[in-house]
Amino acid sequence: MNSDSEVFSLHINGVVREVTDSWLGESLLDVLRDRLGLLGVKGACEQGECGSCSVMVGDSLLCSCLVMAASAVGEPIVTIEGLTPEETLSDVQAVFVEAGAIQCGFCTPGLITAVHDLLDRIAIPTDSEIREELAGNVCRCTGYGRIIDAVQQVAVRRADSSDGAL
Ligand code: FES
Ligand code: FES
Repeated sequence: MNSDSEVFSLHINGVVREVTDSWLGESLLDVLRDRLGLLGVKGACEQGECGSCSVMVGDSLLCSCLVMAASAVGEPIVTIEGLTPEETLSDVQAVFVEAGAIQCGFCTPGLITAVHDLLDRIAIPTDSEIREELAGNVCRCTGYGRIIDAVQQVAVRRADSSDGAL
């Protein structure tokens, strides 16, 4: 470790992870991927434009490329790995696969994270709400139609299953 290294702990996906050998000002994206091996978080533009690096920090969906890792100390961080039940898929992931809402997959972890956040806040979003809420997540492959369909399908399934539980 060099003399400029920072040592701090982050609360990620319900686990406290110690970060060593980081540098002051290193982005959360780089710490998640390069220091902690959470490779589900993608980096493309690294300028806050594409949403591929989206993670939850506290209650906020943020572009991890724009957040200093050290500033996230004490905040609960959730990455795509934390949204995925072990050895299976979240309901959003499963419907994305069924609906053909994935092509190259590079945007997918950020999108799935954004969709979980959206559906936690708006149980039955309209088409325009979905488009507005996901506007920060760029997908170069799908044309968005199947993504919108997938979000609507998850919302309907969640509503049906909660009706059945009454
Ligand atoms: S890599 Fe962070 S927004 Fe594009
Ligand atoms: S599936 Fe390729 S960028 Fe979205």
